[in-house]
Amino acid sequence: MLADTVQCYFRGEFIPFAEAKIGVMTHALNYGTGVFEGIRAYWNADREQLYLLKMQEHYDRFHRSCRMMRIKLEHDVGELCEITRQLVEMNGYREDVYIRPLAFQDEETITPRLHDVSDALTIYTNPMGAYIDIEAGVRVAVSSWRRMDDNMIPPRAKVTGLYVNSALAKTEALENGFDEAIMLTQAGHVSEGSAENIFLLINGEWVTPAPSENILMGITRDAVMELAREELGIETVERQVGRSELYVADEVILTGTGAQISPVIEIDRRPVGSGSIGPVTARLQRIYFDAVRGNNPKYASWSVPVYQDGGPSA
Ligand SMILES: Cc1ncc(COP(=O)(O)O)c(C=O)c1O
Repeated sequence: MLADTVQCYFRGEFIPFAEAKIGVMTHALNYGTGVFEGIRAYWNADREQLYLLKMQEHYDRFHRSCRMMRIKLEHDVGELCEITRQLVEMNGYREDVYIRPLAFQDEETITPRLHDVSDALTIYTNPMGAYIDIEAGVRVAVSSWRRMDDNMIPPRAKVTGLYVNSALAKTEALENGFDEAIMLTQAGHVSEGSAENIFLLINGEWVTPAPSENILMGITRDAVMELAREELGIETVERQVGRSELYVADEVILTGTGAQISPVIEIDRRPVGSGSIGPVTARLQRIYFDAVRGNNPKYASWSVPVYQDGGPSA
């Protein structure tokens, strides 16, 4: 639970988290008509600094999601970044944090629609370590649930109602004894995990489902492509991926703000490669965590430091 002293941003002001409430008739609650983001901030104990990762990219995507859902945001990307930095600063974290911006239709009438409705914005924060196991590797299964299609609820927008699809797949996977689900498209091609993009190492190249495969255009996905190219000399091919390629890939990873870089060691009870974390994945993880914790100056532009006057008071 969030402590009583934690602040959040709600309808234009900073207020105690416990006071941020919505009515039961709220459209977003009834119809899933909200959009959200998930942003991480990484604590660097040596520097006593917290680094907000790729915040501008997240808010660019947030704005695109809002356009899709016809939600009007009062703040531009720069303002959202500064509100978020201030919020995290006022909460005084000295650990890794997850930030959840949520823009939602707050109309309290009957009839689902996108036009002629009021909306609201909230941003809240929560401490967060690993979302799934990044050290031991994860065991995944192809889901019996198919990924939502672009002509149903567009997966390129981070729409709250779309996450019913993720929840169905995740619970099925966990209750069947796996850690995560891989969803296929209606056509049977590999799409993504419940909250992660997927990469397969095939013939020394990363292969990842193309934007047309009903994926969320992941920000970690872009970061991984950049690091693989810049630091390991490995290119990424974005294309349609067949289900059976999952069973013959040399290495497989799941990427996401929550999942970070999670090695997949087993798919549908078949070992991936040797059944343990592969060498390319291990190198990529090291480089990634150096960059996100603010330890590699080459990637300083990825992060915004939270504390501007020499760190939080202990
Ligand atoms: C469905 C889905 N795919 C992929 C991702 C990974 O995206 P990102 O790297 O921007 O966090 C997420 C996480 O937000 C997600 O919810």
